[in-house]
Amino acid sequence: MNSSIRRVAICTGGGDAPGLNAVIRAATIAAMGKGWEVYGIREGFNGIFFPERYSDGGVFRLTRDRVRGITHLGGTILGTTNKGNPCHFPLKMPDGTIREVDRTDEILEFFAKRELDALISVGGDGSLTIANALAEKGLRVVGVPKTIDNDLDKTFTTFGFDTAVAFATECLDRLHSTAESHQRVMVVEVMGRYAGWIALHAGISGSAHTILIPEIPFDLDKVAAKIRSRDLHGRMYSLVMVAEGALPRDGHRMLAAAAETGHAERLGGMGELVAKGLQERTGKDTRVVVLGHLLRGGSPTSFDRLAALRFGAAAVRALDEGQRGVMVALAINGVNYVPLAEVAGRMKGVPLDGDTLATARDLGICMGDD
Ligand code: F6P
Repeated sequence: MNSSIRRVAICTGGGDAPGLNAVIRAATIAAMGKGWEVYGIREGFNGIFFPERYSDGGVFRLTRDRVRGITHLGGTILGTTNKGNPCHFPLKMPDGTIREVDRTDEILEFFAKRELDALISVGGDGSLTIANALAEKGLRVVGVPKTIDNDLDKTFTTFGFDTAVAFATECLDRLHSTAESHQRVMVVEVMGRYAGWIALHAGISGSAHTILIPEIPFDLDKVAAKIRSRDLHGRMYSLVMVAEGALPRDGHRMLAAAAETGHAERLGGMGELVAKGLQERTGKDTRVVVLGHLLRGGSPTSFDRLAALRFGAAAVRALDEGQRGVMVALAINGVNYVPLAEVAGRMKGVPLDGDTLATARDLGICMGDD
């Protein structure tokens, strides 16, 4: 349809998520079907900034053979990075200090020099904000929403989330029996950044007794009361699901690492804090399991594979239809396009008036506030 496109590039940025390879495969095959050449950029935009690091020069041709048999594989054949945002790139100065510089012009120059007509940028909030900045500078960009956290606005879901929830649910299933055998409190910390989607969905599916999410600041005394009440009813064990971004009413978020130039802060440690507080309050033997990066690995579920394949193919259709500066998004009746500007920098938390949260409360799950 849009004969002006002959060559497109694909990049994957931010934390990896199951389904990235399915997007790459679908986009490559769909683009080749239109007669376009497809190129993969290595590790975010590092393939452009640091060609000397790669034996293939950092940007390489994607062919049918390169994308064969990868739909079910976790990770990304392009590699990814969550360091070195091109809009705020950390550059080491001769005096050893680090300064943030905007390197987006270099990306545009690279596209012009290599006669690349468009970019498919697969990523989460950070990558889509960069994609929006590039689109505003005139690059023809289509974004694809990726993150296990499901915290992107304007799309019903992101790929990677379902796989993370399925794995966390299976972990809870396994923890019930050992917690019950030992009459213990098991605290399970999951990723999700500042949103509680993974904790809430897996917590309900895996029958956690308490779920602590960033959207509802918690009171540990309420959680301890829930554990005591279960004990009184002869249910001598409890599973407590904690989102890494969960927030005590009278405290603050736990950080595993502070933000550095070009790299966001890393959350982590809330599970440990909650376990310690519960052990002190209830006197019960308490253990912590941090699922961490296990949630990002492995094979995508069929839901995530299909979503990723649909997103990859839709990104190519969007470009072919002349769209630019949009993200492909999942709506209940199919894939549609939303302006990147409406997604960039906006986080989607768990709605406090949604039925999923209401379901948790209806099931008697303690949310740390009642
Ligand atoms: O955004 C995805 C995510 O896995 C978050 O859930 C988590 O907070 C973060 O990335 C961890 O990032 P890193 O790769 O730096 O450990």
